[in-house]
Amino acid sequence: MRLGIISALAEEQQGLVEAMESPSRLIHAKREYFVGQLWKIDAVCVLSRIGKVAAAMTATTLVEKFGVTHILFTGVAGAGDKNIKVGDIVIAESLVQHDMDASPLFPRFEVPLTGRTHFMADHRLGQGLLEAAQWFLDNHLEEAISETERAAFQLAQPRIHRGLVASGDLFMKDKEHLNKLNGELPGLLAVEMEGAAVAQACHELGVPFAVIRAISDNANENAATDFMRFVKSVAAQYAFHIVRRFCEQ
Ligand code: ADE
Repeated sequence: MRLGIISALAEEQQGLVEAMESPSRLIHAKREYFVGQLWKIDAVCVLSRIGKVAAAMTATTLVEKFGVTHILFTGVAGAGDKNIKVGDIVIAESLVQHDMDASPLFPRFEVPLTGRTHFMADHRLGQGLLEAAQWFLDNHLEEAISETERAAFQLAQPRIHRGLVASGDLFMKDKEHLNKLNGELPGLLAVEMEGAAVAQACHELGVPFAVIRAISDNANENAATDFMRFVKSVAAQYAFHIVRRFCEQ
């Protein structure tokens, strides 16, 4: 196994490169790739930057140039439903590109000429993430995140959800838009800007992948402020401890 780990932003992957044993740094196509060992697993860490093209490009490079056999995307997302709260964790079961609309030529959400709207994440990787995330919430949240921050984000009892994640080249900040999307995509849990692009690339390359997201905001009018605060102060703790546990398992 060689694991590719992608995040959009540095704050979503902080600490992982520092934890790598004998890392080597390679620059390719305007990105920095760190190749080494993470808790005894061969790994390559990279920041994709934001958006579907950036994510698809990064995932493809990880497979084609760096020979990774599995991909893990870790980061933050906006809540896709009223039952999902800031601080909750969402693990993707399937992913859809919510801004894909080639209708009337193809059905809404269908990626033209692939015959599909939804791309499935790897169940086993998802299961490993679920166990790691549960461990983090049960045993490590209080240690990793200060009481002040837990109070500020109301992280009393974060929950883990598994299901549909929607990605698009759009930072969601409009309640009406989210409600519309939620109506069109039953079971929607989270919105973000990369997962479904990684999903399509991995599907086409035949590489198993998983996506895990900590909820940073409610994808409404406060989304930008909430997102910035969450990313600055707690996102890295979620990502680091969950990935560590995932690799150690
Ligand atoms: N990632 C985190 N919050 C988001 C939002 N509201 N829209 C898109 N991507 C996000």
